[in-house]
Amino acid sequence: MPVDQGFTWGVATSAYQIEGGRGEDGKGDSIWDGFVDRGLAPSDGDTACDHYHRWAQDLDLLAALGVDAYRFSVAWTRIFPDGEGQVNPAGLRFYESLVDGLLERGIEPWLTLYHWDLPQSLQDRGGWPRRETVDAFVSYAATLADHLGDRVQRWITHNEPWVASYLGHLFGVHAPGLRDWEAAVRAGHHILLSHGLATEAIRERAEDAQVGIALDCRPAGPISSRPADAAATRHFDGFRNRWFLDPVFGRGYPEDVVAEFVRRGHIDSELSFVRPGDMSAIAAPLDFLGVNYYTTVRVQAGGEERDEPERPPGPHQDPGFTEMGWRIDPTGLRDFLDRIHTEYQPPSIVITENGASYSDGPDRTGKVDDNRRIEYLRTHIAAVADAAADGVPVDGYFVWTLLDNVEWTHGFDQRFGLVWVDADSKERTPKASYGWYRDSIGDGGWARETMEGLRSL
Ligand code: FCB
Repeated sequence: MPVDQGFTWGVATSAYQIEGGRGEDGKGDSIWDGFVDRGLAPSDGDTACDHYHRWAQDLDLLAALGVDAYRFSVAWTRIFPDGEGQVNPAGLRFYESLVDGLLERGIEPWLTLYHWDLPQSLQDRGGWPRRETVDAFVSYAATLADHLGDRVQRWITHNEPWVASYLGHLFGVHAPGLRDWEAAVRAGHHILLSHGLATEAIRERAEDAQVGIALDCRPAGPISSRPADAAATRHFDGFRNRWFLDPVFGRGYPEDVVAEFVRRGHIDSELSFVRPGDMSAIAAPLDFLGVNYYTTVRVQAGGEERDEPERPPGPHQDPGFTEMGWRIDPTGLRDFLDRIHTEYQPPSIVITENGASYSDGPDRTGKVDDNRRIEYLRTHIAAVADAAADGVPVDGYFVWTLLDNVEWTHGFDQRFGLVWVDADSKERTPKASYGWYRDSIGDGGWARETMEGLRSL
């Protein structure tokens, strides 16, 4: 066990959403570039926040914020423009500089290997539904561990495999834009397998590595007391949460969900693409579980396999929802942390993402008063503290996100940042929430004091 370093306060970002620099210094295209070229997403990602050129300024923003850690993702296509084969030295150099810049500022790097930007050339050969993509991912993970394993201790293999599998291969709203059940289930399996095998590969190369995975957790409750809604809720939970939690913790795929998928004709046999040894590879012990939490949903019979927000995205007056149309429910976070602790017993849990989309922008004096975001973050941090008081081993919390950025198909229309970014000039303006978070996690700040107090009990 590592020495207790105290509770880790951080912020999170991802490569495609902030970097820009499409095609620069040998970078290959990813499936999100392909999605843009097909007219299925706005072209904001080509320049995004221009972090590729402004990264040093962004690290200064992190330092002034006083975070202990920064979670970022590596763009696979900067390292391997075609997904595999020759390493692109310029791409490696970018992340080496970033990591060195963090360490110089006393900030711990938390590196995510895959935040949805599969190399387009691997997609052209079949993408995640094809088993060989697993090998390419493991080589990519090993290469990064070889080059950065001496400086990076915290590794997150995948971000939100549910989104990558189902939004990308079943609902068609994320890259690569497929609508195919079999492809979605196969993609999910290969992503999980690549997680397990990469975990081993990283540990072989970097002795001190702490490896985890970030799962998107969507607690659900029935919309009414009708038995049909209760049954639908159970299936929704199986489809969204247990489908990934169960295998990662060594239980295999949940039998009730497999049976239901077969009954509905989604998969024509009982997971014929699962090979002997896969499930034990997927269950490689985790050092920590990453929990990405934003919202809970109310499920109605018939809606158990949907992914529609309860409200349409956009500004609205209902204070119970953010502009993503997501219900605000901090208690849902505490309850879900309690459940994960009881049912799966991970050695450590880290909130790897939590945050809110509000479009509040600069007023005439240039100030951004995003008080609704402050309220969202305050109540969710308090919920994490409640879970810690319940005995859940929660060791860190990362706000999503540092900068307003490319929120996938929403572009700059959905803004989660502690820092306002002008969509055209890319100028950065810290919002009120930036100062609030800095004070909350600073020495003597209420959030840091609360968590340290709970840990010393
Ligand atoms: C999560 C993603 C992250 C961002 C937030 C709002 O699902 O991991 O990239 O889009 O939602």
